[in-house]
Amino acid sequence: MHSRRNFLRLSSISLPVLLSTDQFSIKKNKKPIVVATWDSGVSVANKAWEVLQEENGSALDAVHAGAISIENEISCCVGLGGNPDRDGIVTLDACIMDHQFNCGGVAGLERIKNPISVARKVMEETPHVLLVGAGAQQFALEQGFKLESGKLSASANDAYKEWLKDSKYTPVMNIEQTQLRINTKGSGPSAPGIFKDGSFNHDTMGLIALDSKGRLAGACTTSGMGFKMRGRVGDSPIIGSGLYVDNEVGAVVATGQGEEVIRTSGAHLITEFMRQGKSPAKACKLAIERIVKINPTKSRDFQVAYIAINKRGNFGSCCIHPGFSYAVQNEEGSQLHTAPTFF
Ligand code: GLY
Repeated sequence: MHSRRNFLRLSSISLPVLLSTDQFSIKKNKKPIVVATWDSGVSVANKAWEVLQEENGSALDAVHAGAISIENEISCCVGLGGNPDRDGIVTLDACIMDHQFNCGGVAGLERIKNPISVARKVMEETPHVLLVGAGAQQFALEQGFKLESGKLSASANDAYKEWLKDSKYTPVMNIEQTQLRINTKGSGPSAPGIFKDGSFNHDTMGLIALDSKGRLAGACTTSGMGFKMRGRVGDSPIIGSGLYVDNEVGAVVATGQGEEVIRTSGAHLITEFMRQGKSPAKACKLAIERIVKINPTKSRDFQVAYIAINKRGNFGSCCIHPGFSYAVQNEEGSQLHTAPTFF
């Protein structure tokens, strides 16, 4: 059964805003707006919001700035500070899309600090949509990006050493929230992104925005599933799976276990539900139900979450399991929401 819980948690930078409690019909016909995944989405959305406040600030520049801001942080799940693959190498996936179906992505990119910026270059400077691996890195270098050392961050190094003890391959849900709990209660994973039983998880930064001129855009960036097989690519660089934008309809981004998002073309599916007249929240819910329907047993053990906005600036979300939060920033301030869940 679906939880009807949908409460507003005010972040430290929030204004005291009361939103509708009906999660399936949040009516906020306001632009500009930015929505971002997870608690860390609050600061990311804030960075994007600064761009939206500029004269002619575009949704594309806003999501790009927001994604860069978290790629520059040390995080288990995004950027070069993230957890490596099972060979100990950090590989990054990202994509970006604007209001005119222009899009670009990179997958398996190594030693480049800002994959979202390389994805934007793919969009703007090539006839292609997706570059991978060595080719993506070669393109980045040609575009003037710096080759970084490839050394793991201290936290990723600890996590990798811990993982090597058992080399288990068991995703665990909601790592970002779990780590917050660890930080406050002093128990949990022995290193960021790895748990005492040897399991691990990953979470992705996705953000979508609507600017004051009515242009939608989205960005998605991740180091992917920690300790993944070498060469594994998730949903995050794949247009239509991890991200989709159709300016006639809305924008959608995903986080969680990418394989399940790819299997159902999640972001595109939700866009099409919105085209049929569903609200963003209802559209996300239908896509989550589809994942659970095709994985009735396995879905008890993995998380997928979606966030969506439509062209009027209404927003919504849904996830499989409790623990997913998302940030919203609009003229009413910054809010952190807990998404409705399937289980
Ligand atoms: N959603 C990110 C991944 O599966 O890699």
